[in-house]
Amino acid sequence: MSVDGVVIGLMRRRHLRAVSAIEQSVNPHPWSQSLFAGELRMPTSRHWLVARDNRQVLGFAGLMWNVDEGHITNFAVHAGHRRRHVATRMLLAQFRDAIALGITQLSLEVRMSNEAARSLYGRFGFSPGGVRRGYYNDNGEDALVMWVHDIDGADFGERLASLAAAMPVRLVREAT
Ligand SMILES: CC(C)(COP(=O)(O)OP(=O)(O)OC[C@H]1O[C@@H](n2cnc3c(N)ncnc32)[C@H](O)[C@@H]1OP(=O)(O)O)[C@@H](O)C(=O)NCCC(=O)NCCS
Repeated sequence: MSVDGVVIGLMRRRHLRAVSAIEQSVNPHPWSQSLFAGELRMPTSRHWLVARDNRQVLGFAGLMWNVDEGHITNFAVHAGHRRRHVATRMLLAQFRDAIALGITQLSLEVRMSNEAARSLYGRFGFSPGGVRRGYYNDNGEDALVMWVHDIDGADFGERLASLAAAMPVRLVREAT
């Protein structure tokens, strides 16, 4: 398993400009930079990670939680760095952190047409749990609500371990 210089760490204010640029490139109604900054001021209910290499922010992953229930709020990888397991590494790290925070179940919304993200989430055990009709107001598309339960259990731990082992690159965490 190789190391390609990608590191997963906590999102900091200094990353916000790059995060915002990625957000603007993927989201028809992008979150503003100040909205991301506000998220960083809520460390007891929000947990944000970024993937970086030496030079740039490659992606970000946001989680909000209340007691044992978490929700992936925003998640993207720079278009020039996809299919390099950047999203997989961010999700692996986000799941490990979620478990450490006492979260046992996670949900998210994803565009019905977003095959890439649905496939990725499926690998992590997310399964469809409902539909929010017309959720996305840019085109009226439905959102698929996906859930994964018992992430603190042994079975899920094995799933995370095999996902990590199947990657050709190693997940490297920044020391905090
Ligand atoms: C979805 C997204 C985060 C995936 O990022 P990524 O870093 O390219 O993902 P990974 O390299 O970790 O891919 C992991 C797996 O996800 C699936 N996947 C990723 N991109 C895919 C694509 N374009 N088509 C089909 N499957 C895809 C594959 O199963 C892939 O494994 P493989 O490369 O071994 O086949 C990225 O495409 C993105 O940022 N899209 C725009 C924003 C977005 O949709 N965010 C999610 C909102 S809910």
